[in-house]
Amino acid sequence: MDWKTAEPDEIVCHCMGITKAKLVELILSGTSTMGAIERVTEAGTSCGGCRSKILQIIEIYTAPITPEPRAPGTGCCS
Ligand code: FES
Repeated sequence: MDWKTAEPDEIVCHCMGITKAKLVELILSGTSTMGAIERVTEAGTSCGGCRSKILQIIEIYTAPITPEPRAPGTGCCS
């Protein structure tokens, strides 16, 4: 599963019924560690089978945005 392109209603934690959309909402509002997500949603606290998926989603949505390099002479100040 590619969690970057997965549908928002895709279930990540089947034990607790937690969707990708719920996790992304939490991550973008600052609840962006495994421990914090466990405390808020209980995702990952039963069978643990979703923990690697949650970590992947955290990694995707907390990665810094790197701007595309511009070709010389195409910027506003050139
Ligand atoms: S699938 Fe998340 S704890 Fe079981």
